[in-house]
Amino acid sequence: MLNWEDPLADLKPQTHQNPQPFDANSYPDAEMPAHSKDRTRDWNNEEGASNDQREVPSAAATPRPGLGLVENSALMATAGAAPVVNPNPLAPQPSLLPDEDDSAWRPLDTKSTPDRTPATPHEPAGGATGLEDLEMGAGRIRVDDKRIINCHADLNQLVPFKYDWAWQKYLDACANHWMPQEINMNADIALWKDPNGLTDDERTIIKRNLGFFSTADSLVANNLVLAVYRHITNPECRQYLLRQAFEEALHTHAYQYVVESLGLDEGEIFNMYREVPSVARKAEWALPFTQYLADPHFKTGTPANDRRLLREMVAFYVIFEGIFFYVGFVQVLSMGRRNKMTGTAEQFQYILRDESMHMNFGIDVINQIKVENPHLWSDAFKQELSDMITEAVELEAQYAHDTMPRGVLGLNAPMFAEYLHFIANRRCAQIGLAEPYPGATNPFPWMSEVLDLKKEKNFFETRVTEYQTGGALSWD
Ligand SMILES: [Fe+2]
Ligand SMILES: [Fe+2]
Repeated sequence: MLNWEDPLADLKPQTHQNPQPFDANSYPDAEMPAHSKDRTRDWNNEEGASNDQREVPSAAATPRPGLGLVENSALMATAGAAPVVNPNPLAPQPSLLPDEDDSAWRPLDTKSTPDRTPATPHEPAGGATGLEDLEMGAGRIRVDDKRIINCHADLNQLVPFKYDWAWQKYLDACANHWMPQEINMNADIALWKDPNGLTDDERTIIKRNLGFFSTADSLVANNLVLAVYRHITNPECRQYLLRQAFEEALHTHAYQYVVESLGLDEGEIFNMYREVPSVARKAEWALPFTQYLADPHFKTGTPANDRRLLREMVAFYVIFEGIFFYVGFVQVLSMGRRNKMTGTAEQFQYILRDESMHMNFGIDVINQIKVENPHLWSDAFKQELSDMITEAVELEAQYAHDTMPRGVLGLNAPMFAEYLHFIANRRCAQIGLAEPYPGATNPFPWMSEVLDLKKEKNFFETRVTEYQTGGALSWD
């Protein structure tokens, strides 16, 4: 519920309603709005269609958040481009290969030593945090001064851009802004309160995924702001990281909003990662990676520590956001496709679009680090990353089994195992690793557009205009 006068209220469609906390007396016969049914039918009709056969709707035909389930291909087409950086790093340069013993390693950029002399007009100024002392008269930043990690150019100067893909993802993410309260939860509230509305297995799916995701998004947000951000030494990438951090907050907000709307026990949901083993295992797997980087004494700049950063980025962007989220996404979106819990499914649709872009951004960063630091990408390191991914696939397959032991919604655990093999192959290919499960196929073709993002297009142009209108109010 908005607690301020909304300057855009007149621009919002008449069908839009802000959900209220559930009151059974207020919704005795609540059912899904007609427009939601229409959208759901469109979405269901996609099943079995190949990606190539689908046409992406025009901007005008695509509804805004809150108008019911959106055709998945249209929504996912706004989730950002597939990686643009060559996943194959430069051939190793023997002269750059360091001894694994960090004490023998010296950074290539000798200007970056702590006692370096003041900058000249041709030398970058500033430092790795952006919080160093101001250096009057220091030289201006040049594109060539910029690096993804271990950069010692001034981090407070966004331009000139070097990594256009990072800036573009920031712009795309802002254009796709949404808020959880914009989505109508009335149909979900009525269905959840109806004793015959859902089976016990379907209720378990909703609660387990709210339990997992509510903590997972918090872990990702904390990892971003307390660990990753410090070590990514590029302003345009940091700009996207700040946007991503806000989106993770929105996702946690969305889960809280669903919990509140359905009248669930918030303690049961938010503490689930410390009570239910299948939820706990995934958080347990990821936490050590972020704890290492969040150590205030941790610094990149040696091969071992640069690999620790890369390892952590694979753990969070490729595995946590790129594999651990996907059983839950399929489960909840499958309910929406069957006209159940459509408000919750719509929340998850928007979250999935954001997550798809997060993953693609992370993969771009990983590949750029490889391009700039080819000595890090050793065969032993590649094997270690492959092992991490196959271990994670087994954990996620176990999660699928634990959340739906009997099969439900036409889904079963073996289908998820195959699906996880399929997406693990895709993730590995994107970062230049061999496919661990050759020949795996996708049992959920309706999810395939998530993995085949070729288009960069904003389908929320009307919405963007409204936000711009709100930001341009005159003060006379
Ligand atoms: Fe998220
Ligand atoms: Fe994310």
